[in-house]
Amino acid sequence: LFAAVEMAPRDPILGLNEQFNADTNPGKVNLGVGVYYDENGKLPLLKCVAQAEAALQADPKARGYLPIDGIAAYDKAVQGLVFGADSAILAAKRVATVQAIGGTGGLKIGADFLKRLNPNALVLISDPSWENHRALFTNAGFKVDAYPYYDAAKRGINFDGMLTALNAAQAGTIVVLHACCHNPTGYDLTPAQWDQIVATVKARGLVPFLDMAYQGFGEGIAQDGAVIQQFVASGLDFFVSTSFSKSFSLYGERVGGLSVVCATAEETAKVLSQLKIVIRTNYSNPPTHGAQVVANVLSTPALRALWEEELAGMRLRIRAMRVALVEALQKAGVTQDLSFVTRQKGMFSYSGLSAEQMQRLRSEFGVYGVDSGRICVAALNEKNLPVVAAAMAAVMK
Ligand code: LMR
Repeated sequence: LFAAVEMAPRDPILGLNEQFNADTNPGKVNLGVGVYYDENGKLPLLKCVAQAEAALQADPKARGYLPIDGIAAYDKAVQGLVFGADSAILAAKRVATVQAIGGTGGLKIGADFLKRLNPNALVLISDPSWENHRALFTNAGFKVDAYPYYDAAKRGINFDGMLTALNAAQAGTIVVLHACCHNPTGYDLTPAQWDQIVATVKARGLVPFLDMAYQGFGEGIAQDGAVIQQFVASGLDFFVSTSFSKSFSLYGERVGGLSVVCATAEETAKVLSQLKIVIRTNYSNPPTHGAQVVANVLSTPALRALWEEELAGMRLRIRAMRVALVEALQKAGVTQDLSFVTRQKGMFSYSGLSAEQMQRLRSEFGVYGVDSGRICVAALNEKNLPVVAAAMAAVMK
């Protein structure tokens, strides 16, 4: 039966973890996967999460099946965070939200639903994009192409190229957009540029799918979610996937969501019924614990305030590490302009290093980043910074 099965390639991001774990270099540093580590190099257990878990443990409950679309209070909390608790489209019941298995799960539910709705649509992702976008939409049965995004010479965004590509796209084309903290480049559109993108998407009849996995890691919760308001104001139907992996440091709990903005309450009810079929036929219904924790934190004022404070702490530490990385690289003898590192937002720095240089970082120095040149600055700390800077300087010479 399996004689003809070929060995699949390692996942470009998660596969690095396997390689990292097998590496015997005692000085190894993992800047591959997008995970926040604290100043001691430890994965944090947020205080708000620990307190919510303590409250749950103090009153343990049996766990029956959740509804197919998840915990109602969780879905409501997701909506409040993404659209604003006093949003008019929420009051008008124009948003279908389902709990999902991480942000990836939200993307997949949306992709499977879109495949049923519009099987021949083309999907456009940014060039470059999160490695799994192409794979996920391809596996959902779509042809996936890319719109220009990164401008290497400018160390920024090829905005004209992006706009031209979207203007040339056929009606019905699904456009995957990074709501904030673009993965992998770290370069985000300005609100004025987003206005133009929204207008183009609307004029061309495209289907926007916003991936918002890093809300709160760029400028702040509201600022990072501002683009959602621009899409709401446009009156367009659109998709938003949400992840709490990073913002709650709950990676292994797989807590995410998918929200679909529809034109009317009637359409919303029908869309929700279809999303539930997608979920039921994939994994039946979602798990309880992580979503319960997030729902409790977001809906309890004191815990919510604590979460916002802890999230701000992560955001500010990442920013400080960007400044420190530039200083350390300069100290290590790198003379090129490194100001792009502090212009980028979120967990990643698109270093501009080639795949060959990234492989040298791994094999010669035990410093793991993605072959695209992406490094996770959220995993830097005062201790590993000199190692990383020396290694990067060596391959940049
Ligand atoms: C990443 O880009 O490293 C994260 O989103 C983790 C993942 O699933 O790839």
